[in-house]
Amino acid sequence: MKLSLFLLLLPVTVLADVSYYHKRTVVPWEPKNATSVDQSVINDGYYYLSDRTNAAVHVVNVATGTLMADITGFIGLNIVNGKPDNGISGPNGLTVVPDHNQLYVGDGDGTVKVVDLGNNTVVASIHTGASTRSDEMAYDSTRQLIAVTNPEETVPVLTIISVANHTVLGNITFPNATNGIEQPAWNPADGYVYVSVPESNANPGGEIDVVDIEQLKIIKILQQPNCNSHGIAFGPYDQLMLGCSQDSIITYGTNHVAILDVSTGNVTATIPGIAGCDQVIYNPTTNFYYVSAYQNTANGTKQGTPDPLLGIIDAATHSLVQTIPTDNITAHSVAVDPKTNTLVVPLANIGIVLYDFDASTTTNDTGTTGTGTGTSGAGRPELVHLLLVAVAAFAAIVNL
Ligand SMILES: *[C@@H]1O[C@H](CO)[C@@H](O)[C@H](O)[C@H]1NC(C)=O
Ligand SMILES: *[C@@H]1O[C@H](CO)[C@@H](O)[C@H](O)[C@H]1NC(C)=O
Ligand SMILES: *[C@@H]1O[C@H](CO)[C@@H](O)[C@H](O)[C@H]1NC(C)=O
Ligand SMILES: *[C@@H]1O[C@H](CO)[C@@H](O)[C@H](O)[C@H]1NC(C)=O
Ligand SMILES: *[C@@H]1O[C@H](CO)[C@@H](O)[C@H](O)[C@H]1NC(C)=O
Ligand SMILES: *[C@@H]1O[C@H](CO)[C@@H](O)[C@H](O)[C@H]1NC(C)=O
Ligand SMILES: *[C@@H]1O[C@H](CO)[C@@H](O)[C@H](O)[C@H]1NC(C)=O
Ligand SMILES: *[C@@H]1O[C@H](CO)[C@@H](O)[C@H](O)[C@H]1NC(C)=O
Ligand SMILES: *[C@@H]1O[C@H](CO)[C@@H](O)[C@H](O)[C@H]1NC(C)=O
Repeated sequence: MKLSLFLLLLPVTVLADVSYYHKRTVVPWEPKNATSVDQSVINDGYYYLSDRTNAAVHVVNVATGTLMADITGFIGLNIVNGKPDNGISGPNGLTVVPDHNQLYVGDGDGTVKVVDLGNNTVVASIHTGASTRSDEMAYDSTRQLIAVTNPEETVPVLTIISVANHTVLGNITFPNATNGIEQPAWNPADGYVYVSVPESNANPGGEIDVVDIEQLKIIKILQQPNCNSHGIAFGPYDQLMLGCSQDSIITYGTNHVAILDVSTGNVTATIPGIAGCDQVIYNPTTNFYYVSAYQNTANGTKQGTPDPLLGIIDAATHSLVQTIPTDNITAHSVAVDPKTNTLVVPLANIGIVLYDFDASTTTNDTGTTGTGTGTSGAGRPELVHLLLVAVAAFAAIVNL
């Protein structure tokens, strides 16, 4: 008892132990246990997960933790020479178009499927012109345009689709990309789409290409801090979270994710201790980023033992506030419900896991974070840390 109280009185130690999230329930896989999934999203109380193994998008009711439907009509997992080939498989990336109550989903044959969320049915199939998969997307809600990547083409392509009439309006090629293209993200502040380019001739450590999707032009290139980003997500202000991939661990021995201020092109923070990411997201309600570090290693080196984690980063303080052990198979996907803050991660040997948010363990930073650079920790003064410590210590005394 004395020892645990002593530990509780060390603020830094205790902070790392604050658990915002607790596992609530598991939705079992069906019909088959999934070995290959892709992106996920939560909209209006429902979770949608692309599952290539089952050739479907699963629909889960977040409140009840039950599987409601499987949206079908996708290519599924293609096996070539005995090995799964994600490049010609689907469903893959997805995005909600809320004003039309639709979900756009990239499929394995270069088509984008439009799902009506009223009846969970594919109502249109749009061919991008690519012969390999259509993948990750951004939605420009002002112009009502979808930007979708076709990363496996010989020259990777970003295709622009009109939501109004499902016409392909054109595309942007990335001839300098040497390892495909990854997540695009729309920035409502300037109307541009930011594309994660993990590696290029000029920037082997990765770059973010700023695209004017109306003019179909790359207008600016921002260099990354040796990150080889896969997932990216806008947080508060012009802050772009870069989900540094396994390549950054292998090539540069870096063990971090980074935040890029897209208005200056400056890196405003690197958060050490977590890397190997795919999908990353931001939830304005908690003011947290969630990074799927499924290829993280225990000591941050390429020789390190696999230590797959879901990382939660406070956008105000830029600190890693919680990690949850995951897997290096399907846990490259992450979704969070902005209404309830429930977090969902698919785990290959377990099922779709729902974690609930405990608001009593946090303060509410939203809207009080000043410039968002986080260096001052304005949204969460030390006093609050100490208060949390005191509460935890009190709880420990009561329990013992
Ligand atoms: C689903 O809803 C859409 C839009 O209301 C409609 O066009 C389509 O026919 C419906 N599909 C089925 C199978 O009910
Ligand atoms: C690019 O867009 C045009 C339509 O403007 C389309 O015909 C073509 O197939 C697209 N190419 C690729 C590689 O997606
Ligand atoms: C489709 O809608 C877009 C606007 O989203 C418009 O620019 C384009 O001309 C329309 N194309 C057709 C064939 O109607
Ligand atoms: C490709 O790289 C060359 C040389 O750095 C540059 O001039 C050109 O603008 C780049 N093109 C694109 C589309 O990024
Ligand atoms: C951001 O970058 C600009 C231009 O590279 C530089 O002048 C400025 O000092 C940087 N600001 C910070 C806060 O590092
Ligand atoms: C934080 O505050 C915002 C605005 O008042 C509110 O909408 C949100 O639900 C709060 N979040 C939490 C976790 O209490
Ligand atoms: C990291 O862990 C691996 C496996 O245990 C070990 O071989 C390697 O030396 C470690 N590297 C460092 C820098 O600690
Ligand atoms: C995934 O993790 C397991 C141990 O959990 C390890 O044996 C395997 O090599 C890892 N695979 C990859 C691709 O990192
Ligand atoms: C499927 O996953 C469940 C856990 O959800 C496990 O108990 C079962 O053995 C798995 N089945 C197969 C065929 O791997």
